[in-house]
Amino acid sequence: MRTDTSVTIYRKDYRPYPFEIPEVALAFDLEPEVTTVTSRLTVRRRTAGDTAPLVLDGSELELVSVHVDGAAWDAGRHTLTAETLTLPGLPDQAVVEIVSRCRPQANSTLMGLYVSSGNFFTQCEAEGFRRITWFADRPDVMSRYRVTLRALPEYPHLLSNGNLVASRTLPDGRQEVEWEDPFPKPCYLFALVAGQLTCRETRARTASGREVLLQVYSDPGSEDRTAWALESLERALRWDETRFGLELDLDRFMVVAVRDFNMGAMENKGLNIFNAAYVLANPDTATDANYEGIESVIGHEYFHNWTGNRVTCRDWFQLSLKEGLTVFRDQEFSADMMAHGLDAAAAASARAVKRIDDVATLRAAQFPEDAGPMAHPIRPESYQEIGNFYTATVYEKGAEVIRMQHTLLGEQGFRAGMDEYFRRHDGQAVTCDDFVAAMESVYTRQHPGRDLSVFRRWYRQAGTPRVAVSLAYDAATRRCAVTLSQRCAPVGVEKTTADGADKPPLHIPFAMGLLDRAGRPLPLSLDGAPAVDTVLLELTTERQEWVFDGISSEPVPSLLRGFSAPVIVEYPWRDDQLALLSAHDPDPFARWEAGQELATRQILALAARVQQGDALSLQPAFVEAWRTLLTDPRLDAAYRARALALPSEKTLAERMTDIDPPALAVARDFVRADLGRQLAQAWTAAFENNQTPGAYSPAPVPAGRRALKNLALSHLMAAGDARAQAWALEQYDQAGNMTDRLGALGALVNHGRPDDATRTLGDFYEQWQQDPLVIDKWFALQATARSTSVETVRGLMAHPAFTLRNPNRARALVFQFCLNNARGLHLPDGSGYAFWVEQVLALDALNPEIAARLARALDNWARYTPALREPMRRALEKVRAHAGLSRNVNEIVSKALELAA
Ligand code: TRP
Ligand code: ZN
Repeated sequence: MRTDTSVTIYRKDYRPYPFEIPEVALAFDLEPEVTTVTSRLTVRRRTAGDTAPLVLDGSELELVSVHVDGAAWDAGRHTLTAETLTLPGLPDQAVVEIVSRCRPQANSTLMGLYVSSGNFFTQCEAEGFRRITWFADRPDVMSRYRVTLRALPEYPHLLSNGNLVASRTLPDGRQEVEWEDPFPKPCYLFALVAGQLTCRETRARTASGREVLLQVYSDPGSEDRTAWALESLERALRWDETRFGLELDLDRFMVVAVRDFNMGAMENKGLNIFNAAYVLANPDTATDANYEGIESVIGHEYFHNWTGNRVTCRDWFQLSLKEGLTVFRDQEFSADMMAHGLDAAAAASARAVKRIDDVATLRAAQFPEDAGPMAHPIRPESYQEIGNFYTATVYEKGAEVIRMQHTLLGEQGFRAGMDEYFRRHDGQAVTCDDFVAAMESVYTRQHPGRDLSVFRRWYRQAGTPRVAVSLAYDAATRRCAVTLSQRCAPVGVEKTTADGADKPPLHIPFAMGLLDRAGRPLPLSLDGAPAVDTVLLELTTERQEWVFDGISSEPVPSLLRGFSAPVIVEYPWRDDQLALLSAHDPDPFARWEAGQELATRQILALAARVQQGDALSLQPAFVEAWRTLLTDPRLDAAYRARALALPSEKTLAERMTDIDPPALAVARDFVRADLGRQLAQAWTAAFENNQTPGAYSPAPVPAGRRALKNLALSHLMAAGDARAQAWALEQYDQAGNMTDRLGALGALVNHGRPDDATRTLGDFYEQWQQDPLVIDKWFALQATARSTSVETVRGLMAHPAFTLRNPNRARALVFQFCLNNARGLHLPDGSGYAFWVEQVLALDALNPEIAARLARALDNWARYTPALREPMRRALEKVRAHAGLSRNVNEIVSKALELAA
C-alpha cells in the first residue's frame, strides 16, 4: 500500500499488453478473515514467437501456488515483488492457474474485496482488481469471465456479473453459485457481492421485446427505501432506448447499495454497486436533492453500460472518454426527466434550472482545479496515482467538451456521431481521439472542408480559457461588430513543460444575442442566414470579428447563452446593463448569469470593505434587481430559487486576487441578512405562497417551491425576523418530508436562538439515530454551521456515532468542515490547518483514496491572503514530511507545494 517513490506515468508511453487473456475463470472461497481466490487465465501472445514475460499486477496478496498448463510451476521460475508477479518463458498459448489469498475484513481501503456491514463487496476501478488476484490490471485487456462463489449459508445472496448459470449446496453445507458474463470486459468492471440483502425487483421489456429483470438490493430493513431507485432505473433504460437507440444487452441488471464506499457508484457490468446514499430514499429521510441525485447517478451508471462498458478505455488517460460522455448523458437524462410533461415555456425553464445547477457545480469545483496545482487537461498527459484523476475536470469539464460537440453538430448530428462511434468501436478499448473522429465524420459531412482538428485541443490543454468580447456599434450604418478574442495561460504542470509555453487557440462555440434598451431581442443574421435571436459563433482563432446589420439601437449583449463553452467571459457591462439582462434576457441561463454577476460585484465590493473595517450597505440597484426576480410572476419557483441564490463562496473566491475566505463569508452573510430586511415583504409572500401541503412528491415543481420557500426562510431568519423564528420552529415540527425538516433545522442552527438550535439538533438526533444517511446530514449541517469552530468539530468527532472509517461519515463532518466552512478553517493561527494535517494523516492510514481527496482542500494555498498562505504552506510541508505517506496523498501535497505558486 505504501511506497516512498513517486513514479510518473506518461500517456505517450502507452504500449499494448503483449498477451491477450480471452478467458478468465475465478473461484472464490469467501471468508471475511481470509478469502482464497483461484484464477485460471487463458493467455495468448499477441505476436507468436515473442518472448516477453507475463507480468501480472498484484497488491497485498499472499501467493499460494502457480500452475501452467496443469503442471506446478516451481517458485524459482517466477519473480514476485510487492506489486508484480512475473512469469518468463511461457509458450505462445497457456493456461495459467494462480491461487492466492486476501484479507477482506482487514481491508479498510474499500478497494478490491472488502467487508461492509458483514457483507462482501468489491470495487475494482481503477486498479482494485490487483488486490483480488494477480492480473493484467489495465483496461485494454478484455476477457470473458466465469465466476464461482462459495460461502457459508449466512451469505445467502451470492452475486457477480452477467447471468446466473448454476447454484448448488456443497457437501460441506456451503452454497456455490456460478455466474457467466457473456461480454468481454476489462477487469475493472468485475464485481461480486455476497451476504444478507433485501431485494426489490421488476420486469421490463426492452425496445426489441426482450424481457429483462431489474433488481435493487440493499441491507435488510431498508426495503421501504428502494422504490425510487428502481423507478429511476426503469426510466434510464427507457431513455437510452429513445434518445440514443441503446438497449440493455443483458437479461438481468442489478444495483446493490453498500454503506462503505469511496465514491458515488460503480458501473460493473450487470452488477452496479452504489453508495447507499445514491439508492435509499423515502420522503421522511431523503431531501429533494437526494431524490434528484439518485435519479442522476442511477442514470449515470446505467448509461455506462454502453459508454464505458461496451466501448471502454484503452488506458486510464482516456478516462474522460467514458466519464465526460456519461456525465453529459446523465445531465441530459435529468433535464429530459425534469422537463417531462411540462408545457414548452415551463420545460425550457426546467431545463435551464438543470443547466444552471450543472454550471454552478463546474464553477465551484472545476474552475479552481483548473487554476491550481492539480490542473490537467480532460485527458491528462501524466499521473502518479490514477485514483487522483477522478476529478471535476475529467468528469464535469469532460462533459462540457462533449456538450460542445453536441452544440456544434446539433441533436441529430450528435446522434449520428454516436451511432458511428458504436458502429466503429463496439467491443473495443479505445481513445478520446476515436470518439472525436466519429463525431468529426458527421461534422465534416455537415460542413465540407472543415474538421475538428482545432477542437481536439480541448483534450490536450488545461486551464479555463478567457474570451474577451468587444462591441463596436455604428448608429449611422446600423451595424454592430462583435469581436471575440481568446487566451489561456499555462497552469499546473503545464508551467513546467514546453507545451505550456505555447497554447494555441481552441474551437469555441459561442452562443449570443443582442437586446435593445427595453430588453427585446434584436434579430441577428449571419452569412445571409435567416434572422434568429441567438447566433452560434465558432471562434477558432485567437481573434475573430462578426458584423451584424440592421441593428436599430445601441445593443446590450447577452453572452455565452446556455453556457455554450466552459470559458470565462470578459465584457465590461455597466451595472444597469446587467440589471436589464437580469430582468429581461429571454435566454434563462444568461438571465441568471447577469443577476449572479451583479451579486458577485456587490459581495466582492463588500468583502473589500470588510477587510478595511468599513461599514457595510447594499447598493439600491442590486436590491431592486433582486426584488424584480423575487416578484416576477412569469418565473417559476425553481428558477427563482436559482436566480436569487447568492454565488457560492468558492465561485466568489475565484474572482479575488488574494482570497480572503472569512471576509467573503462576512460579506455574504451581510447580503443575506440585509436582503432579508429590505425585501421582507416579498420573502414573506414567497414563503407563504410556496408551501406544498399534501402528499410528498420529489417532482421538479413542488421541489422548486420548497427550494424557494426555504431560501425565503433563511433570508428572513438571517434578518432576525421574529415571525420567521416561529415559522422555522413550526416547520421543523410539522414537516412531512426531510427537505422541509432540514431546511428549518439549518435556518435555526445558523440564524436562530442558540437554545432553539440546541434543542432541535438534539431532537433530530434522537429521532434519526438509527439511520446513518440521516445522521450524516446531522453531522454535515453542524460541520458547515456559521458558529462551528475546530473545537466544535473535535467535539463531534468524539461523538459515539462518529467514525473516520466510513467515508460518508468522514465526508459529512471532516470534509464538510475543511472544504465548506471557511470561517472555521482559515485562521491565521493555523489551528484549522493543524486539524486538517491530523485528519489527512489519520485517513491516509485507513484509506488513501479518501485521504487524497481531503488533502486537496489546501490546493490553492498560494492564492490566499498573505496571512494565510504561510500557515497553509507549513501544513502541507508537514503532511509531505510524514513517513510512509501513500502515493495518493504524496502526489497531491507535492504538486501543491511545487506547482501552486
Ligand atoms: N466509474 C465510477 C463512475 O463514475 C466511479 C469510480 C471510479 C469509483 N473509481 C471508483 C467509484 C472507486 C467507487 C470507487 O461512475
Ligand atoms: Zn462514471
